[in-house]
Amino acid sequence: MSITTFAVAGATGRLGRHVVDVLTERGHQVVPMSRATGVDIITGEGLAEALTGVEVIIDVASWHSSDQDAATEFFRTSARNLHEYGHQAGVAQITMASIIGADKATAGFLAAKKVHEERLLSGPLPVRILRAAQFHEFVGRLLDWQQGEVAYLPALPTQLVACRTVAEELVDLATAPAAPGTPIPEIAGPRKEIMAEAAQLLGARRGIKVVGVDGSGMPDAELAANGAFLPGPHAKLAGPTFQEWLDTQP
Ligand SMILES: NC(=O)c1ccc[n+]([C@@H]2O[C@H](COP(=O)([O-])OP(=O)(O)OC[C@H]3O[C@@H](n4cnc5c(N)ncnc54)[C@H](OP(=O)(O)O)[C@@H]3O)[C@@H](O)[C@H]2O)c1
Repeated sequence: MSITTFAVAGATGRLGRHVVDVLTERGHQVVPMSRATGVDIITGEGLAEALTGVEVIIDVASWHSSDQDAATEFFRTSARNLHEYGHQAGVAQITMASIIGADKATAGFLAAKKVHEERLLSGPLPVRILRAAQFHEFVGRLLDWQQGEVAYLPALPTQLVACRTVAEELVDLATAPAAPGTPIPEIAGPRKEIMAEAAQLLGARRGIKVVGVDGSGMPDAELAANGAFLPGPHAKLAGPTFQEWLDTQP
């Protein structure tokens, strides 16, 4: 396999650090991009320098909260800048991580991801999208957002997947020959879980009691309850399960 130079936007994030690991293990050159490495994909600081000589951008940068308007603005701007600076630098392609169900969302962070997809797809560079289920690693973040010793989380179905599994699939997609006309690929964990139940397993380790709630009041709660954000029939399902992953965590 030929060696490619990748820039990873969001290289220090939950998913991004695994993307960097997978690329490095496969012998590729990697330019890590995040504010922590001096590259800001919103202000453009350091971006032109970082993209010099880069062939493929993997976009796994993200907004840090679930606020729809702020996240939408972040993804609009990052998409514009990655295309603009990438085009100037002679980048050949952008591969991005989205979330399963983004195409069906009407509100919340998922709706911001829909805009992210649309803006990236509007060019000028060719774009590949991988839609992933929620990450095993994201469950801890949901607990972090809660105050106190009792956490109230939605008892909604999800098909949690490990970041390492998503990173491998994302790198496979970024390095595969172009396949125009094929449906947007999806990656999810091996089985359906209930978010609150997964959080209970993690909460037990942290001394936090987790109570499952019906999720009403959440964006698109009814769609989520009806399984609209679960993987489709063509999705790739791959382990570890949440419990198997948890058993490997320190
Ligand atoms: N979380 C999930 O369950 C899930 C599920 C499916 C898909 N996804 C998608 O996967 C991607 C990665 O999500 P994640 O959970 O790994 O995100 P994350 O842990 O919040 O990481 C976000 C990354 O973006 C970087 N970043 C933020 N602002 C930046 C800026 N202005 N310039 C450059 N870098 C910036 C952060 O680094 P600095 O702070 O150092 O800048 C960090 O490296 C996102 O597109 C997300 O929508 C997430």
